[in-house]
Amino acid sequence: MQNKAKPVKKRIVMSGMRPTGPLHLGHWEGALQSWLKLQAECDCYFSIADWHALTTEYADPSAIREHVRQVLLDWLAVGIDPEKSVVFRQSAIKEIPELFLLFAMIAPLGRLERVPTFKEQKTQLSDRDLNTFGFLGYPLLQTIDIIVVGGNTVPVGEDQVFHIELAREMVRRFNQFYGDVFEEPMELLTPQSRLPGLDGRKMSKSYGNVINLSDSAETVKKKILPMKTDVRRQRRSDPGIPQDCPVFAFHKSFSSASEIAEVDAGCRSAAIGCIDCKRILIANLNRFLEPVRERRAWFEKVNVDDLLAPGNLRARERAGRTLEVVRKQVKI
Ligand code: TRP
Ligand code: SF4
Repeated sequence: MQNKAKPVKKRIVMSGMRPTGPLHLGHWEGALQSWLKLQAECDCYFSIADWHALTTEYADPSAIREHVRQVLLDWLAVGIDPEKSVVFRQSAIKEIPELFLLFAMIAPLGRLERVPTFKEQKTQLSDRDLNTFGFLGYPLLQTIDIIVVGGNTVPVGEDQVFHIELAREMVRRFNQFYGDVFEEPMELLTPQSRLPGLDGRKMSKSYGNVINLSDSAETVKKKILPMKTDVRRQRRSDPGIPQDCPVFAFHKSFSSASEIAEVDAGCRSAAIGCIDCKRILIANLNRFLEPVRERRAWFEKVNVDDLLAPGNLRARERAGRTLEVVRKQVKI
């Protein structure tokens, strides 16, 4: 009997980040670490979403270019390999706005208004006017990012799931009107970063509590040494509870199992002091960051546009093929 089973669809990974400045260890834990694993196994497209940045920064876009450079260098520094993955700048792909326009024709306004992040972000970023067509279209633009290169697997954090749901609905709607063109993309949830910021709150640039991937060894030391520890350890002889200390949370991500056990026991019995504990962490963070710094220094010598050119070209080729099919199906 003939085997009529559909061939298993190949995983095409697509994800992106808005260029909002240098990336920190939270980005490493929450996203980049997963991207590296995927890069080894699948075709990956990674986009620096500068048009997405413009949806909120339109009044002063002067920093976006520099932020694109920083994000790119951070990606390459951690090991995103532009020979394995397609690493590109969103605004280099003119097929994106063309497909976005076609999808705008069929995107129900009410559905876009109901995307939870739309209202949330509008209240959070209350210093600017986000009553714009572009900002409403943010998640639709993300849909296009994914499908224009044939992406079907989207590594993202929990906060982006609403956007991937919208992408599926928009794909279904398009396919109903114009035939089976696009595959419905699926999110691939990346682990929630367990890493707090230096002050114990969530690590976030806006809190000023981050360790950047581009921080020097000296900066790492200067940031870790004054960190607040468990309040129980007023004196060197007071025992503490590691779970209540952000330094310990860092150990859990960047220290070896035996060091974690040692710090855990030492903190509880007051066998080690907080300064010793922090020194171990500083050494481990810098051991992790040293090769990152080396790769960064190497890529820094190369012009950003030259670094992006091959990826831009490959993404554009792939997007061009998508648009050929789309124009035929939409009969335009
Ligand atoms: N909206 C995403 C975020 O804020 C960034 C992004 C842009 C993205 N385009 C994408 C993520 C495509 C996944 C796929 O994190
Ligand atoms: Fe935190 Fe380490 Fe001090 Fe314990 S010993 S409170 S884990 S810094």
